[in-house]
Amino acid sequence: MQLKTLPSTVAPRHFIDLSALDGRTLRRIVDMAHAMKAAGRRPPKDLTPVDVGEKILIMIFEKPSTRTRVSFDVAMRQLGGQTIGLNDKDTQLGRGEPLSDTAKVLSRYGDAMMLRVNAHATLTELAAHATIPVINGLSELSHPCQIVADVMTFEEARGSITGATVAWAGDGNNVAASWIHAATRLDFRLRLACPPQLNPERAVLEWAKAEGGKIELTDDANAAVAGADCVVTDTWVSMGQADAAKRKQLLGPYAVDERLMRRAKRDAIFMHCLPAYRGHEVAATVIDGPQSVVFDEAENRLHAQKAILAWCLGVG
Ligand code: CP
Ligand code: NVA
Repeated sequence: MQLKTLPSTVAPRHFIDLSALDGRTLRRIVDMAHAMKAAGRRPPKDLTPVDVGEKILIMIFEKPSTRTRVSFDVAMRQLGGQTIGLNDKDTQLGRGEPLSDTAKVLSRYGDAMMLRVNAHATLTELAAHATIPVINGLSELSHPCQIVADVMTFEEARGSITGATVAWAGDGNNVAASWIHAATRLDFRLRLACPPQLNPERAVLEWAKAEGGKIELTDDANAAVAGADCVVTDTWVSMGQADAAKRKQLLGPYAVDERLMRRAKRDAIFMHCLPAYRGHEVAATVIDGPQSVVFDEAENRLHAQKAILAWCLGVG
């Protein structure tokens, strides 16, 4: 009788934060994402993981998702593999089974796991015990898969992001943190305008400073956006945040409207990870206007997920 081969002792390639990758690796993943898009539904042979037909991605969601859930599912299928999608309440995780046990068990069944979690520590704890890659499908601290797609989208519209200027106006949240990681690794300038109460986490800013990142932080949206190649924002109230009224009051002056967009370069693009709330963080005339690339950005989640999965499964 043949038993399932025990997991390999080679360290898995986790994808938890862009800060954990060196610039060359992140560049390679973004280039792979461009190549995946160019190849359409059939990924190029040199970017297709070995034995992918037998590989399974396990997806677990502690928070809602449209883009991340569907794009990972479709990406894995287009690569030739399969997926299992669960909400946390469907699993023993929701009843407090230790993360270390969950990591060891899922490592015996699947070939990678992707989770959207309430607490970033869930990802790091799983990764400490898993023998398969752990992918961050959004935590309260970061959203690295999103920013691979965002960098790719920038480059489709405006060419190489290295040396460009990206402006963020709004909450210094999980998406902003992954932008800070990407700017530092890919060497572009990132100007963030946030109300001081909602600045990015100090640890992320200190990391970027220590790594030589070109990150500027201000409370003045006009100053951040002046001359930028790209303006980005995100919802004022992220999943799991309770203080909606206070946040809306603080973030009002950071709304991206046509007047603010006029301060950027004439051919600047507008990006938003979605879901968006028109009339709050962005005016409908901007997100539905000619400078917006939000639906390319959403589509690019699919191509980026294929690149991330390929890398996690050993390509590149
Ligand atoms: N941008 C993003 O992650 O969207 P979902 O919450 O729909 O996955
Ligand atoms: N900052 C948002 C991103 C959603 C994709 C949130 O965490 O809810």
